[in-house]
Parts: sequence; C-alpha cells; structure tokens
Amino acid sequence: MKIPSGLITALQNANKTLVLTGAGMSAESGVPTFRDAQSGLWSKFRPEELATPEAFRKHPKLVWDWYDDRRNNIGRINPHAGHDALVELEQYFESLLLVTQNVDGLHQQAGSRDVIELHGNIMLSVCSETGKVIENSWIESNPGRPPVSPHHPRGLARPGVVWFGESLPADAMNRAMTAASHCDVCFSIGTSTLVQPAASLPLMALNSGACVIEINPASTPLSELATFSLQATAAEALTAINTKLASCK
Ligand code: OAD
Repeated sequence: MKIPSGLITALQNANKTLVLTGAGMSAESGVPTFRDAQSGLWSKFRPEELATPEAFRKHPKLVWDWYDDRRNNIGRINPHAGHDALVELEQYFESLLLVTQNVDGLHQQAGSRDVIELHGNIMLSVCSETGKVIENSWIESNPGRPPVSPHHPRGLARPGVVWFGESLPADAMNRAMTAASHCDVCFSIGTSTLVQPAASLPLMALNSGACVIEINPASTPLSELATFSLQATAAEALTAINTKLASCK
C-alpha cells in the first residue's frame, strides 16, 4: 500500500500524537462493528435496543446474557497486526495517547500503554445502583443472571460500559479533548465518526492545526476534512506506515 510522503513527514515532525479508534479497529480481530448486522441469537435485536439503562431495567437477564455472550467471544479473540503496529508507533513520538470507543480491551492486550476507554470495558462489572466495581470473583460465585450487587441492597451487577443515553466518564473525555487540542498528529481509525462526543476529537485536532489521518475502507463525514484519508483497513494502513517509517530511520 502506498503511503503519501507528506504523511510520513508529518509523523517524523510530530511530538504529540493522538489516536482515536472505533469498532472497525477490532473488525480484523473478528469483532463485529456496530453497523454490522448482529448475528445468531441476537440477530433480531439492534445494539441500540440492548445497550441502554432502560433495556437493563426492563430485561436485566436478556441484557446480561447478551454481554456475557460478547464477553465469551472477546475472550477467544486476539489483537491483529494493526493493534501491534500502534504499539510499534509509540517509539516515534514523545507521547502517543490512544483513545478508544471500543470496550474489548484489545489495545491493552496488544501492549498499548496509554489507553483511554471512552465507553468502558466489557470485561468489567459494576453495581447498577452505585457504579462501584464488582470483582469477577463475586460474579463467578453468585449464580444470578445478572448476579446481585454486593454494594447495594437493590443493586444488580451490570457491564462496566457506557450505554446509549449515558454520559461518558468526565475525566476520560476531558483528557481526550485536551490531547486533541494539543496534538501534532491525530489518527482516526475504524470509526464512522457518527457518535458524539468522540467524533468531535479529530475535528478539534484539525481546528488546532494538527495533521489528521483517517484510516477507514469506507468514507465518513471526516474523510473530506482530514489531511489524509486512507481508504484501507487498519492492519493494512498501519503496517504500511510502520514499514515506511522504519525505512526512513
Ligand atoms: P461503527 O460500527 O459505527 O463504525 C465502524 C467503522 O469501521 C465503519 O466506518 C467501517 O467502515 C469501519 N471499518 C470496518 N472494518 C474496518 C477495518 N478493517 N479497518 C478500519 N475500519 C474499518 O463503530 P464506531 O464508529 O466505533 O457507542 O461506533 C461508535 C460508537 O457507536 C460505539 O462505540 C458505540 C456506538 O454507539 C456506545 O456503545 C456508547
């Protein structure tokens, strides 16, 4: 894959890099994106119908079982070459902050060191009343689906993810927005840039004078605005960028 020389020059001159990833970053690891059709037992539901506080209140077992199914699937998958390439990229910058909308933990599994999970982590369980973390040992030793919470008499265990209609962790978003306003380069990888506030990060970077690099096989609302828009998969583009940077060392 050909990488524009201007893109490589921008990376060589960058100190602070911000990377925003979405569901497309995990696609090559076998995790369906939000806009992919749901499969099997869940094909008759849309994520928007299950990933909400209302759905959990009305049908706690259904929502719990859906996440349990996704947790089991995610437990069987591994990071791909694109995740590994992002880890390798860290060596070229003073700082690389990775902000992900994904809840699968694949970036940390690959070795990325500075990761902000804007939408939480599917492997985490929290109390539905207090939001306090519930240890997996409690989940495994309490048979309910969902298990009751140890933190509140009416509490239930729920996935530690941000649901539709819920606000993002304020400290995470603030840190991401600060990074977007001060970075030299901002990657936007595998996201349809449809969901706020994450979708505003590349635009904030662009407005602050950063070089914005989009990687997505399809075009998105960011494609025409980005400094570089690579119509390719995450693994293909990121490994090609790494190869080019290494050859310029
Ligand atoms: P989407 O499913 O909206 O978009 C996935 C994007 O990845 C699409 O633009 C695809 O073209 C692209 N894509 C697919 N395969 C790819 C690949 N191999 N390499 C690179 N890109 C690829 O997922 P998100 O943009 O992450 O929020 O969705 C953002 C949020 O929408 C999710 O975090 C979720 C949902 O509302 C919450 O759950 C709160």
